[in-house]
Amino acid sequence: MPASTFRFQGWSLFSLLAALVLLMTALTLALHPDLTEGVRSAIRATARSSFALFLLAFTASAFAVLVPSPLSRSLVRERRFIGLAFAFSHLVHAVLIYSYGQLNPEFWPGRTTVGNIPGSVGYVFILLLALTSFKSTARLIGGKAWKRLHVSGMWVLVAIFAYSNFKRIPMSAWYVLPFGLTCAAIAIRLVGKLAQANARRRSSSPSGRAAAPLVATDHSN
Ligand code: HEM
Repeated sequence: MPASTFRFQGWSLFSLLAALVLLMTALTLALHPDLTEGVRSAIRATARSSFALFLLAFTASAFAVLVPSPLSRSLVRERRFIGLAFAFSHLVHAVLIYSYGQLNPEFWPGRTTVGNIPGSVGYVFILLLALTSFKSTARLIGGKAWKRLHVSGMWVLVAIFAYSNFKRIPMSAWYVLPFGLTCAAIAIRLVGKLAQANARRRSSSPSGRAAAPLVATDHSN
């Protein structure tokens, strides 16, 4: 097995990322004199850490095809743990949302059922993707269903990130940045898929039999 460029791998990488999310949350809370405002800031901070981890998992296989390197290959190998760290970060987002609801009684009444739909759908997918990220549960649902769930789940989540950032642009022009990053990640993933399909076609055609595949294995989502 090729060596990973990451010093932390597998569960140690997950633990490191989870610890960083908790540290960031603790610092955000500690730096705010007002607890309610601190919790609100921590909700935003965990949305951002989730976003960064999600983008890594979402574009990993495309980067391995488009810019093959030890780093991009390590990213693909560690994608499961990066994805689980994303789920953990969003679990903290959920705990903070619950706490904020307790601290600010106007929070939930101020939200509409329709407004809660994208986030709730997102959480259903995060839960399903996290639960099926283990060998035993993945085997239980079968390879085809696993692939369908993980492909659709990642697209649903990227759409929620795009929407969540887009709807905040009128509040602050800074949200153009995460929205633009989301669009760029979608483009990178689509170009990566196209390059992968072309490479597969070339290697399966008689004239291109000797052509090496761009990535050795990619059962990507
Ligand atoms: C019902 C479930 C959810 C609720 C109630 C919720 C609630 C919130 C709240 C209160 C904020 C802070 C808003 C502010 O102070 O401006 C926030 C920020 C955010 N949330 Fe969630 N959220 C939910 C699920 C999700 C999911 C599933 C995603 C993504 C997959 C997500 C992505 C975001 C993003 C991108 C931000 C903006 C962060 C920033 O300011 O940069 N949320 N959410």
